[in-house]
This record gives sequence, structure tokens and C-alpha cells, in this order.
Amino acid sequence: MPNIIVVGTQWGDEGKGKIVHLLAKDADVIVRYQGGANAGHTVIDHRAQYTFHMIPSGILHPGKTCILGNGMVIDPAALLEEIELLESQQIPVRENFLISHRAHLILPYHRAIERANEKLKGPRRIGTTGRGIGPSYADKMGRTGIRMCDLLDPTGFRKILEANLAEMNLLFNRLYDAESMDLEKIFETYCGYGERLKSHVVDISLLINDLIDRSKTVLFEGAQGTHLDVDHGTYPFVTSSSSTAGGACTGTGVGPTRINEVIGVTKAYTTRVGSGPFPTELLGDAGNGLKTRGNEFGATTGRPRRCGWYDAVAVKYAVRVNGLSSLAVTKLDVLDGEPEIKLCTSYLYDGKHYTDMPLNEAIINSCEPVYEVLEGWETPTSGATLYQELPEPAKRFIERVEVLAGCKVDIVSTGSRENETIIIRNPLVTEKQ
Ligand code: GDP
Ligand code: IMO
Ligand code: MG
Repeated sequence: MPNIIVVGTQWGDEGKGKIVHLLAKDADVIVRYQGGANAGHTVIDHRAQYTFHMIPSGILHPGKTCILGNGMVIDPAALLEEIELLESQQIPVRENFLISHRAHLILPYHRAIERANEKLKGPRRIGTTGRGIGPSYADKMGRTGIRMCDLLDPTGFRKILEANLAEMNLLFNRLYDAESMDLEKIFETYCGYGERLKSHVVDISLLINDLIDRSKTVLFEGAQGTHLDVDHGTYPFVTSSSSTAGGACTGTGVGPTRINEVIGVTKAYTTRVGSGPFPTELLGDAGNGLKTRGNEFGATTGRPRRCGWYDAVAVKYAVRVNGLSSLAVTKLDVLDGEPEIKLCTSYLYDGKHYTDMPLNEAIINSCEPVYEVLEGWETPTSGATLYQELPEPAKRFIERVEVLAGCKVDIVSTGSRENETIIIRNPLVTEKQ
């Protein structure tokens, strides 16, 4: 049975949650491999609307094992809150939910450092989600991080916390002019979280590889998007994790030879939250139509998302760095009623056309997007479930997306609900036949 990675091809919020939820019906295990509560994945099923920050959206299907991978940074307070909220909505999370013993933790000092850092940066601020993501990954790479398994050993945990806090408090007092943090308070609180989460903590690499050996199907749920990836994104305006497909292997302990396909979720236009370059951004009121019809407000922070036309240069890059096998195009319905639809086919800078993503931040910042203009459509696509039902101009749009990306489209999403979807090929079901 195939194992599939789902990634975002743009700057996040492409609709990964909906697509993962849809595919999860035919999977046995759904695993998040990077990021933390910076993600906001909204899913609407036949019962209600849910927003997931850490828990894979597959949890809505009864009996699917949902896992938080070692590549994640977990805020235990936020996680427990998310579990409680879902349980209050009658989703029995704890029956099907596991956490890697190697996943790193977010501590109160991570959030405090992030706040102070962003303030100091002034206009170069990243516009983070304020969840402590960057400082926690910095500790992981600096080898001072605290992991889930450390919580299960209070004596060891106390030692690392003591050492870290001594250093952090020096930073707070001498650099950031802030108050020290109290060791006992953090220690007690986190030991309490450890007690409440310990029955879910396992070696997920061992577990997932064993399930794959037994022909189970694993879905890897990416968070953020290709252009927010710490290596391949618009650095430094990125998140601090590997949100591209490679992160699924390091973030779970499953080797690349065990993964069959990578699906890239791509919105029919582009959005971005926070700072950083965005070549096709529609400034002023120009992007308001997309923002309003697409309801483009962040699920995690409520910030309005910056909106712009479809950027084929950015998606072509995502096809390459993720090795995408196909695309899932979302929010086609949001383009309904636009008299003309634009796709950016190259960036023009200093007299030169770039059809491949330039690595130079200055070029991405100052280039002029070159557009191909397609006619819009009058017949609404909203809720369409069959490709043949789509108006001809909408089909032409999808075909241009395929040609410009060099990648076929398997799924077209025409609304936020589960059934508002055109499935040209279900990568999980097709492979089974
Ligand atoms: P994610 O972070 O990639 O999971 O995306 P978000 O959940 O943050 O944002 C996508 C938003 O668009 C959510 O509110 C979805 O319910 C909604 N959505 C997903 N697919 C479609 C679609 O095809 N049409 C419309 N109109 N909304 C969609
Ligand atoms: P999902 O999974 C959109 C953005 C933030 C900021 C940058 C760094 O819902 O697609 P961080 O808090 O991660 O250090 O912020 O990344 N960002 C997202 N933008 N969707 C997300 O997740 C995001 N997660 C982080 O706005 O610009
Ligand atoms: Mg989101």
C-alpha cells in the first residue's frame, strides 16, 4: 500500500488540512513531521468545523492512528488544550494518538525570547506566529533542547532545565531587560504535563516502520509550505523547520525508499501571512476580492493573509524541491466571477526573465511578475465534483497549472467541505488496484 507525503507548495494555508482529511479515509496512520502550533489546518466534515494546530487532521476518522513526529516542536500546554477542545467535540483523540519520544518541547522561555527578538528586529521582523517555534528549533540544533522523553525522567529533566534556565535568565536580565523565569514553577508545571502525556509517548520510527512492513498505509501531513522551509524557502522570512518532503523522513525516522508519492497542495491563487517577499502580491484594495471570497484570515493568529495571483514560478520550484508526483489544486471556486485570471509565468528583473525561482532575495523582492492572462468563467465551480462539470475556462486554468508546473493535477477542490472535491485520481485508491 502506498505511503504518501502531503506538502504545501506556496507559503502555507493552501488547504493541506482538507486534502489530508480527504485522503486519510484510505490511510491507516497519519503523522505530522515538522512544525508545531504555528500551523492552523481547518477541516469541515459532516459534523462541524475543526481547526488543528498539532494533531493530524486524520483524527476525525475513527480508528486511524495519529502521530506527532520527532521533527515537531511541541508545546504541551497547547497540545493538551487542543486535545480537550476536540474531546469536547466528541472526537476521542486519546484512543488513537501517539507522540515521538524524540520530539522537542517548547518552554515558556522560547516564547519570551521570540517576542523580545521580533521586537528588536524592527522592520526586519519575520512576523512569526509567536508560538516559540524558532527558539525551540534553535535549542534543538544547539543541542540544548528538551525532548518528550526528558519529561518522563524528572531528575534528568530538572538538570537540563536548570542549566538552560541559568543561561536564559542571564539573557533576559542583561540583554532583554526582562524578568527572570522561575525554575520551580516551570519544573512543576512541565512534570504535570509529562504525567498527562506519558502514556502516548513511544518510539514512532519503530512503530511506523513496523506498520509499513505489515502493508499499512501512512500519510505524512506537512505543515507550512515549501517557501517557508528553512532551507528551501524565502530565507530568512521562513519558519524554522523542514516543511518540504525531505522533512518527512528526518521528522519521523522513515527512510525515503519507503515513501511512494508526494502530493503538493496548491491554492488557485497565492497567499502569505507575516513578512517576506511575495512577487504576485496585490497591494491595497486589489487583493480584497480574493481575501473576502477566500476568507483569507489566519487560523492560528487571525491575521489577514496577503493575497495575490497564482505564481507558477513558485509552484514549479515546489515541484522540483519536493519531487512532487501530483498536485491538488484548492480554492478554484474563489476565482468564480473574476473577469480574467492571471498566472505569473516569470519574474522580470534587470531586463532578465526568471522562470526558475531566483535565490537572490533582492530579485524576489524587487522583480516584476510577468503574467499570462486567461479568461474567467461565469458558471460557478463552487461545489463541483466532476471535472467534466467545470466551465471550459476553468479547465483551461487547470491545464495551464499542469503545464507550467510540469506536474499533473490529481485533485481539484471547489469548496471547503469534504464532498466539494473533484478527484481525478485518488493516489491511495489507484495504487491499491
Ligand atoms: P492549511 O493550513 O494548508 O491546512 O490551510 P488552512 O486550513 O489554514 O486554510 C485553508 C482554508 O480554506 C480553510 O478555511 C479551508 O476550510 C478552506 N478551504 C479548503 N479548500 C477550499 C476550497 O476548495 N474552497 C474554499 N472556498 N475553501 C477551501
Ligand atoms: P499552515 O500549516 C502560513 C509563517 C508565519 C511567519 C513565518 C515564521 O497553517 O500552513 P513561525 O511562527 O513559524 O516562526 O513563523 O512562517 N507561518 C505560516 N504561514 N501558514 C502556516 O502554517 C504558517 N506557519 C508559520 O506567519 O511568516
Ligand atoms: Mg493554515
